[in-house]
Amino acid sequence: MPNVTPGLSVIILAAGDGLRMNAGVPKQFLEVGGESLLSRSISAFEGRADEIIVTIPLGADSDVVARPGVHLVPGGRTRTESVAIALSEVSHDRVLIHDAARPFVTSTVITDILGALETHHCAYPVMPVVNSIVVDKGGELAKTPKRSRFKEVQTPQGFRTKTLRRALELHGDEHAHLPELVRRLGKKVKHTEGSPWLFKLTYAPSLQMAQYYVDHVEPTVR
Ligand code: CTP
Ligand code: MG
Repeated sequence: MPNVTPGLSVIILAAGDGLRMNAGVPKQFLEVGGESLLSRSISAFEGRADEIIVTIPLGADSDVVARPGVHLVPGGRTRTESVAIALSEVSHDRVLIHDAARPFVTSTVITDILGALETHHCAYPVMPVVNSIVVDKGGELAKTPKRSRFKEVQTPQGFRTKTLRRALELHGDEHAHLPELVRRLGKKVKHTEGSPWLFKLTYAPSLQMAQYYVDHVEPTVR
């Protein structure tokens, strides 16, 4: 198990409503293998960071989520707002921002991002796109760009804290892809190797994939 990285904060975003999952409760509170997605996400960073900050939905029962060493803050209306709220609490030089809805983070993924932050202001994992990607206009095909130009974005996303604060101040908008804001500051952003198991639980069938992971893959992964 890698040691604590000095000067590292982690933000775990868990303030969404999970509307597409349609489960009656926000998806981060659903359990797979007897543990909630949120709890799994927190565990992935425990022992790695100096500080863990978790955004939770307004009005959520913080007693249910309470956990030693974890600082809870109420989230905002959008993901970007939740990031801004949590970021104002961050007290270290580097920060990893992670979606609670991606509970299967390996230590290799974290180590790669932290390594890239030595030379870059931002780094995050990506995956190749498997399906063809098209531009749709009014329900008809407008254009088919070359698929190899595209990557799928995952989290955790790592930043130098000062850079992210400045990027949000200057370029922040509601639908911001945070690394793009850093790129607009003229800083290079590094892509690291993602994992198919870093998928974001979004619709109900993804719970079955998560169960498969817990039963068959997790026992073999470090
Ligand atoms: N999130 C957040 N604050 C918000 C919105 C989202 O902290 N205001 C978090 C979610 O809890 C999730 C992550 O950001 O862990 C990624 O968002 P998404 O997958 O879109 O989750 P939800 O917004 O909860 O789901 P949906 O869009 O289906 O309602
Ligand atoms: Mg959402």
